Amino acid sequence: MKISPLQIGDLKATIPIIQGGMGVGVSLSNLASAVANEGGIGIISGVQIGFREPDFETNTKEANIRALKKEMKKAKELSPIGIIGVNLMVAINNYDEMVKAAVESGADIIISGAGLPTSLPKFVKGTNTKIAPIVSSGKAAKVICKLWEGRFSYLPDFIVVEGPEAGGHLGFKMNDLQEDKKINLESIVKDVLSVIKIFEEKHNKRIPIIAAGGIYTGKDIAKFIKLGASAVQIGTRFICTEECDADKKYKEAFIKCNENNIKIIKSPVGLPGRAINNEFVQRVSKEKEEVNKCFNCLKKCDPSSTLYCISKALINAANGNTKDGLIFTGRNGYKMEKIITVKQLIDELVEEVRNYE
Ligand SMILES: Cc1cc2nc3c(=O)[nH]c(=O)nc-3n(C[C@H](O)[C@H](O)[C@H](O)COP(=O)(O)O)c2cc1C
Repeated sequence: MKISPLQIGDLKATIPIIQGGMGVGVSLSNLASAVANEGGIGIISGVQIGFREPDFETNTKEANIRALKKEMKKAKELSPIGIIGVNLMVAINNYDEMVKAAVESGADIIISGAGLPTSLPKFVKGTNTKIAPIVSSGKAAKVICKLWEGRFSYLPDFIVVEGPEAGGHLGFKMNDLQEDKKINLESIVKDVLSVIKIFEEKHNKRIPIIAAGGIYTGKDIAKFIKLGASAVQIGTRFICTEECDADKKYKEAFIKCNENNIKIIKSPVGLPGRAINNEFVQRVSKEKEEVNKCFNCLKKCDPSSTLYCISKALINAANGNTKDGLIFTGRNGYKMEKIITVKQLIDELVEEVRNYE
């Protein structure tokens, strides 16, 4: 199959692969710029991005804003002509301020999931930043298009459609994630494609659809492009790269992991998530962990009743303390066998797409 670039307004990615934002500290400037330099789109995760700032514990909000600007600057320096975006979860407490900081620092793109980003267009008015919601159903795609159309006369610049095999938080009910349930990414992508057609025709604007969740090989990419997607978003596969910003021990946890070590868990975000069933996950599934310090990061979390502090657990993991850390993974996270470079990974995927009949 011929590889076609991904066009988002005036932005053109020669390789139709978006590297999914991965927090905390898994996709920062190093990974994002490496992907952008190979012609894909690199995404910095904004969630608790200030965790390495000296005043993170005492001045969390400012530390996050400062670190986001620093990481954006670094990424742009490492990839001056590449496309660099930011992922911000709607579920975080200082969402609006982080969006403003991303726009100010020249993010080419903002992608927002873990809730519907109802007010996102107002922050990018008059700027060059493109915006995209993450949805997990045709219904959600319709809701957000209608809302943005009505309130802001704006349609998404593209839409990420995330299926049940993705890593991190999942936009599905726990029950719908059972193996015997028939929800799959293909049918959701088809649904979204048919829903957006009406909006595209009415406004004479193309809305590229990006398929995400469990995409592992070039064959997977080709399959979704054939179905009508303009590109794919891949998270997990980028973790076992040299450029991934997490600690080496974090990457090694994936190499050691087998299929039975991957589990759906309940997250304090209020959504299910997929993670490696490590010592930490086993411990917090039996007993609640004391929360001594609240970072006030989530709209929905109550520190007195939460089973654990998700910020602390994700930061521990990214820093290499995996036995006290939460390691999110996609459904295929057990398949990686070694750490390679981003260039090797993208070359391999592109070659597989080209060989697909
Ligand atoms: C370790 C990890 C952290 C993630 N963090 C975020 C995040 O902060 N925000 C978000 O919208 N998606 C997050 N995701 C989802 C990815 O961006 C991506 O869409 C998804 O993992 C795609 O599925 P795949 O991992 O099977 O390729 C995360 C995924 C992983 C594996």
